[in-house]
Amino acid sequence: MSDLHLLPVLAENAGALELLAQLHRQAFESQGEAPWPATEFRQLVVSPGVVAIVASDGGAPVAFALWRSVLDEAELITIGTVPAARNRGYARGLLGQIIDRLRAQGCAEFFLEVRADNLGAIKLYQGLGFKEIGKRRRYYQTQSGNLVDALCLKLFVNNPTAPK
Ligand SMILES: CC(C)(COP(=O)(O)OP(=O)(O)OC[C@H]1O[C@@H](n2cnc3c(N)ncnc32)[C@H](O)[C@@H]1OP(=O)(O)O)[C@@H](O)C(=O)NCCC(=O)NCCS
Repeated sequence: MSDLHLLPVLAENAGALELLAQLHRQAFESQGEAPWPATEFRQLVVSPGVVAIVASDGGAPVAFALWRSVLDEAELITIGTVPAARNRGYARGLLGQIIDRLRAQGCAEFFLEVRADNLGAIKLYQGLGFKEIGKRRRYYQTQSGNLVDALCLKLFVNNPTAPK
């Protein structure tokens, strides 16, 4: 992993919104999930408490994450790494940066939802200290029409196992 930088989260930054849409499409097409257009990212980044972060490899953007924090709670909205840059620590690095920021702003709990069949992502989150707190049955619909459970995970940001 070479560098991480914060995207300016400005709704009028069309280039940054388009970049998020491109990274999302590349990351999620292998999952069979519909891409989010730049307009959807625009709606997100104008919402209170939403921040986007991008990781680059030698200047080329390869991974991204969006999260929302409100008072002492936060939720991961989406995260992805383009296929060519996987297994090189980008997603773990992004989550480590987010957790550092949440800790610094006094946020206590970080929530996320993940498809129960997304074993790589589940391993990533468990490795950072997230624990399963619930399940939404048949929550996600795949492109082939199957319904898959969502696991709800939570990290206590100040837990000693959370990355420092
Ligand atoms: C899940 C995803 C974000 C991981 O990104 P990544 O940059 O490759 O992840 P990292 O290299 O930071 O991996 C960190 C740890 O996560 C786990 N992990 C990540 N991908 C894994 C996989 N395919 N299989 C098993 N473990 C995996 C490993 O424990 C890994 O640590 P290790 O390499 O020391 O074993 C990426 O595969 C992706 O974009 N998938 C499609 C989109 C998606 O599913 N997003 C999450 C939705 S909830």
